[in-house]
Amino acid sequence: MEILSNYSLKNYNTFGIDVVCKTFVSLQSQHEASDYVKNKLDRTLPYILIGEGSNLLFTKDFEGTTIQMQNKGFELIDENNKFVWIRAAAGEKWDDFVSWSVEKKYAGAENLSKIPGNVGAAPIQNIGAYGVEIAEIFNGLEAIEIETGKHRRFYLKELKFGYRNSIFKQTLKNKYIITAVMLKLNKFPFLKIDYGNIKSELETMAYENLNIAIIRQAIINIRSSKLPEPKELGNAGSFFKNPVVDKQKHSNLKKSFPDLVAYDLNNGFFKLAAGWMIDHAGLKGYSKGNVAIHKNQALIIVNQGGASGQEILEFSEEIQSKILEMFGVKLEREVSVI
Ligand code: EPU
Repeated sequence: MEILSNYSLKNYNTFGIDVVCKTFVSLQSQHEASDYVKNKLDRTLPYILIGEGSNLLFTKDFEGTTIQMQNKGFELIDENNKFVWIRAAAGEKWDDFVSWSVEKKYAGAENLSKIPGNVGAAPIQNIGAYGVEIAEIFNGLEAIEIETGKHRRFYLKELKFGYRNSIFKQTLKNKYIITAVMLKLNKFPFLKIDYGNIKSELETMAYENLNIAIIRQAIINIRSSKLPEPKELGNAGSFFKNPVVDKQKHSNLKKSFPDLVAYDLNNGFFKLAAGWMIDHAGLKGYSKGNVAIHKNQALIIVNQGGASGQEILEFSEEIQSKILEMFGVKLEREVSVI
């Protein structure tokens, strides 16, 4: 366990915002997490839990405690002739887990290649990409209750997964330190290549038999062509969620914007592609001061260097109001603002 004072979080958020927190705590094990919250956490101050900081926007110094789980390891905990159950430590990078599982030929996580962030943070917002969400391979998680230091296991149903949502963003927000995530992967892959341009990317690649390693490579190729590398250009992936509207609103919008990109959720609602809307509003590449809409993917806001969190927040509010004006739709942030 390491406890540091007045610590810069610049390297702990992918926007690269230079803010300072009063106390920074890194925890190496479940036992340390329990010991820390029972005996050392200053409960008179606010605290936040961070992973890799890939979904956070700091707008000011944080007068409290920042807690980060740094435990490591992947472990096979059970298997039968079809499935394997893996326990991944929360402090591992999500993509290291995907890379490990693809190497072992355990299938199910390959479409989630290259998503930034740590394993422990992945279920909180039900990370998803290229037709797959972590909910589909999630089996359970282990966590320490901050109020009591008690260990608890959560199962799939208790997570109440939704689109970029789970119980840890709702009633249990900030109540637990997630220490490990259990994933159920397949020994016999069920390849998912229907989403977006996976197929067209595969056509450009040379391979003999399609397998999960090839799919991982295709996803990496697509992501690197569109999504900026945080080390080069600070960003937190999609800044907004894709908004969900009802059938009526969707058909009204379709009349005014026949090219509108939307996915039928088959429950009377449609999910709109916010990236398309921002792009269609002529805002792709739009820049103000140190902040911009990324030139290749309009759902991503980038720090062009030296932007403050407040500047990024104000920029994002300007985008929200332009989209509201043009489409009558309020974009909700995917990124958490602190
Ligand atoms: N589009 C445009 N212009 C743009 C961006 C997108 O016209 O500048 C159109 C695309 O052509 C496509 C549609 O909008 O028809 C959707 O675009 P894309 O497939 O790139 O995905 P997205 O909806 O913008 C979501 C996730 C991403 C995930 C991708 C791929 C959200 C908020 N974002 O983006 O996740 O990687 O799908 O599955 O759901 C993240 O959450 O941080 C993230 C990057």
